[in-house]
Amino acid sequence: MLENLTYQTITLSFPFLNTKFINMKKFIYTFLILLGAASCSSEKEPVYKDAAADIEDRIEDLVGRMTLDEKILQLTQSILGVNTVENNFGGALDKIPSEIGSLIYFSDDAAARNAMQKKAMEETRLGIPILFGHDVIHGYRTIMPVPLAQACSWDPEIVRLGSEVAAQEASSSGVDWTFSPMVDVARDPRWGRVMEGYGEDPYATSVYCQAAVKGYQGDDMSQESRIAACLKHFAGYAASEAGMDYVYTEISDQTLWDTYLPPFEAGVNAGVATLMSAFHNISGTPASASHYLLTEVLKEKWQHDGFVVSDWDAIKQLINQGMAADGKEAAEIAFNAGIEMDMADNLYSENFKELLDEGKISMKQIDEAVSRILRVKFRLGLFENPFTEEKPESERYLLPRSLEIAENAAVESCVLLKNEGGVLPLKDVKTIALVGPIADNQWEHISNWHARGNHEDVISILQGMTEEYKGQARVITAPGCDFDGDDKSGFNEAVRAARAADVVVVCMGHNGGWCGENHSRSTIEIPQIQEDLIAALKATGKPVVAVTSSGRPIDLREVDANADAILHIWHPGTRAGYAVAGLLSGRYNPSGKLAMTFPYSTGQIPIYYNRRPRARTGDQGFYEDITNEPMYPFGYGLSYSKFEYSQMTVSADKVAADGKLYAEVTVKNVSDIDGKEVVHWYINDPYSRITRPAKELKFFEKKLIKAGESETFRFEIDPMRDLGYVNSKGEKYLDKGEYRIMVGDQTVSVNVI
Ligand code: NOJ
Repeated sequence: MLENLTYQTITLSFPFLNTKFINMKKFIYTFLILLGAASCSSEKEPVYKDAAADIEDRIEDLVGRMTLDEKILQLTQSILGVNTVENNFGGALDKIPSEIGSLIYFSDDAAARNAMQKKAMEETRLGIPILFGHDVIHGYRTIMPVPLAQACSWDPEIVRLGSEVAAQEASSSGVDWTFSPMVDVARDPRWGRVMEGYGEDPYATSVYCQAAVKGYQGDDMSQESRIAACLKHFAGYAASEAGMDYVYTEISDQTLWDTYLPPFEAGVNAGVATLMSAFHNISGTPASASHYLLTEVLKEKWQHDGFVVSDWDAIKQLINQGMAADGKEAAEIAFNAGIEMDMADNLYSENFKELLDEGKISMKQIDEAVSRILRVKFRLGLFENPFTEEKPESERYLLPRSLEIAENAAVESCVLLKNEGGVLPLKDVKTIALVGPIADNQWEHISNWHARGNHEDVISILQGMTEEYKGQARVITAPGCDFDGDDKSGFNEAVRAARAADVVVVCMGHNGGWCGENHSRSTIEIPQIQEDLIAALKATGKPVVAVTSSGRPIDLREVDANADAILHIWHPGTRAGYAVAGLLSGRYNPSGKLAMTFPYSTGQIPIYYNRRPRARTGDQGFYEDITNEPMYPFGYGLSYSKFEYSQMTVSADKVAADGKLYAEVTVKNVSDIDGKEVVHWYINDPYSRITRPAKELKFFEKKLIKAGESETFRFEIDPMRDLGYVNSKGEKYLDKGEYRIMVGDQTVSVNVI
């Protein structure tokens, strides 16, 4: 209101300066106007510009000044073509600033950001800063292992630090907001996006989710090098039928609450700024049309006060999904469900005036939605610090600390799946044959969703091995074959290299482009040609070490049949080669354990550790042609150290619902190699009103245990939190009776009284 008055007063006062007074009435009128002008010019800054004022007061003040067009702009995220430096960010620099409230896919040029932001701040009526968003999923320029790999580290600090590095690199390039972390609990490795999440377990995903939010946002998003995070995809997207993308999902309310929602609730509790709606249809209601999820659960039950952005075109896709007749109806449904910002499809900007006139949406709703978006802009400190310091790349990217964090993350997330006869670590070898399509490759390690990741920054396995064994062993290499196809012309050279070596290291698996969005596969097999290659190498009689890579659990039966050792490296990022070489040589000790089950075959999918028990026990209920067991279970992973667990102790065998209990186990490193062990604590509720999984992970901890030494691990049990369950309405219960605490292969029963 105040701002409008100021404008009006000034324009009215100009004619007065150039005209003669006509009558007294006009004189008095003009005098009053002048008084108004004088008082306005000496007036304080508006409240919304006052950094010292309370954010809620600033929001109220600003919303009160905004026109409908200005409000709708805030609810819209623009895509200005493919935004690259080369194409002038899709013409964004020439765009009228009042056409941008938020911009997606902005990256890598602080100067361009500043030019756009300057226009928004100085050439628009209210000077509301633009919010620049980008998909920074597992690093920005320094690329970390994919999130699924990071989950195998069982160290939330790896995730926090990786996100912190990503935030620093992204923010120094002008990015304010990342569409990460993805916390979709995933149990179907055919789905290409399993790489983007933290695996199959709701508790582990919740812990990593909080670590990622903390890493991106810190304690205060307005601090330098922090960006806003976005939990996605709300909720249950990973349940896509048959592992396909963008399709229907069938999710019961019980599974929604006990499996898919916990990580989102954890992220909201950690203070995440935003969430993204999802593409899929849940049991008849598309996630982007779900008032239940987006409003009743998120805003009313969990009290989230940031905003929800739609996924890309997710609002328009309500038409394809059979929910909305046209774009206008789609906008109405999505907005009324609780999506505040429309990503890319412009349906809010095209339809809101009409929807408002027709009473299908209200100004009160618009004000509330705008307030949520402004709240995030204020919390990011954008009004006070809208610009990005323009520093040279060498001061922003690939800093020594960032590379160290990336290498450590890669080391901790690789999983040693097999080590027969102690073939690893590779000591006392004179010649190593390094073969396979990933042996001398930089691209595949940065995987999908690598933001500004550049393959030229990546240490290949060949480079890593050559440096690792410099002066000790010769590394000879030949790719043997490509990832796929039927060209075996390179086989002979690979076999010759194997014959000339003491050991063969074959680097194979899925390439980086075979996972991620819209990269589902009907089978998790490794293409036949690579399986033929490893068989040919095995036939040489030399020890074979397989280094397997993928963004999803894969079928390793043929690899297992032909390899003495298997190190699964996922897509380990910028420092891939140093991590792998260090793990193979024994300079590093493997400590990763699987965060997602490896089935024997595609036909076993979905297969996950926390299934509910089946009706018939004994030998019934099995496949006729294959075991029901996984090839490598959740939590599996070997080390060069050997650990022995003591008898588990529990502080009491009875506990009141509001009491406390703890379980302890001591782990001894009985080898002569220092190593890290992760202890997973599970519970089971054998009989309950709602049947519970056979095992539920409730706590995990990783510690370094020096050779010959012991460490004690403790699980502090809060009965309601750790033994209770949530029903299909999201209400938490704790029943009296028996519960089992499990660690390693031990189980102890306790009673809640
Ligand atoms: C679609 C993806 O589903 C989502 O994860 C991503 O953040 C957006 N596109 C923006 O790129």
